Amino acid sequence: MWGGRFAEGPAAVMREINASIPFDKALWRQDVAGSKAHVAMLGAQGILSAEDVATIDAGLDAVAADYERDGVAEDLALEDIHMQTEARLAEKIGAAAGRLHTARSRNDQVATDFRLWVRDALSEIDAALGALQDALIDRAEEHADSVMPGFTHLQSAQPVTLGHHLMAYHEMIARDRSRFADARARLNECPLGSAALAGTGFPIDREATAAALGFDRPTRNSLDAVSDRDFALDYLMAATQCALHLSRLAEEFIIWASQPFGFVALSDQWSTGSSIMPQKRNPDAAELVRGHAGRIAGCMTALTMTMKGLPLAYSKDMQDDKPPVFEAHGLIGLSIAAMTGMVETATFRAPWMRAAAEAGFSTATDLADWLVREAGVPFREAHHVTGRAVKLAEERGIALDALPLDDLKQIDARIDERVYSVLSVDASVASRTSFGGTAPARVREAIAAARAVREGERR
Ligand code: ARG
Repeated sequence: MWGGRFAEGPAAVMREINASIPFDKALWRQDVAGSKAHVAMLGAQGILSAEDVATIDAGLDAVAADYERDGVAEDLALEDIHMQTEARLAEKIGAAAGRLHTARSRNDQVATDFRLWVRDALSEIDAALGALQDALIDRAEEHADSVMPGFTHLQSAQPVTLGHHLMAYHEMIARDRSRFADARARLNECPLGSAALAGTGFPIDREATAAALGFDRPTRNSLDAVSDRDFALDYLMAATQCALHLSRLAEEFIIWASQPFGFVALSDQWSTGSSIMPQKRNPDAAELVRGHAGRIAGCMTALTMTMKGLPLAYSKDMQDDKPPVFEAHGLIGLSIAAMTGMVETATFRAPWMRAAAEAGFSTATDLADWLVREAGVPFREAHHVTGRAVKLAEERGIALDALPLDDLKQIDARIDERVYSVLSVDASVASRTSFGGTAPARVREAIAAARAVREGERR
């Protein structure tokens, strides 16, 4: 394709290091679509004859049909998907194939193809994350009243509901979707027609190719357009943040499924056994989601480092943009699907969670708040009084609400029998009615709002 000024062919290793076909063959659909839009525009602008356009267009369809049927051959001599497709086209239609590359370069071509690919990837991720949100909403509704210990420092802190806990992940996923949506909005400009770096002297119509490929508009600066990979980085950065959220949820499942916790039993579909310990049900999928987050962040770092310090415009370093995006996309897709499956099918052991909440003196704050509210005790003093009550309960091995009133009165005479109404875990969660709080009524409101958003999206 570029042999005119060369006397010798490339060294074998040169050929190998130079070739991107082993991975960019994944772009064949986008490459054919971009070429079809380009050639139609060349015809409409009178740059190519109608006859050539018809021949090339039909030839591209034939090449696409071959790719669909046989896959794309990894011919290193043909370097990349763009040269591969042009060579296949020449086999089909002969000399007219040589006119397709008029007024474009592989630089604007690959930038266009890759944007189209990432755009599809963004749609897939958005749909998958929506399904995860639905799963979280369903399970949260089922457990809007199920009390569990809420943790800080992984120490029992205050009782919360499992519904509230699951909806916290729904919030994270909502932010992830909004980041992916931002990425899509910025991505959707068409580089085609920027040519090698400076634009072209042919009277092309960039608005037409942009519209034909579903872009909002053409990119505004040809140098930027052929060297910009922000759209790939936006994708990887959003994917990294999403992977962090998934890994946190995975970690909760791993902890909750451990025997000392016993909060959740993963379904058979989402656990694995041990070849030597018959009692085991391992949370392998959750562990892999946790692990994949590291690899996804690695992909993001890889492309960040590739792009660092590259002068305008295109440099071959940028060919390395695709493997990390393809890898991250595969990993995040699997991670989302696996977490969705685990959330949908897990058995949450609500009685066990409640017992853990009751065992952890998690209503101590409620006792302190009661002293403030009902007896006018300053919070710092109430904190101290409550600490003594917790100590006593701990010594006796009983829950706070099992302490007899006489003992509580001995600690502080201002305590009366009304205090018992706040010492149960149910009373505690029911009282947290501030906006965004864990009271079941609030959790149900949050669930209803989340469902309404999802229904709006489906409409
Ligand atoms: N395979 C190349 C890539 O993925 C296509 C662009 C090649 N352009 C060039 N000037 N060598 O980046």
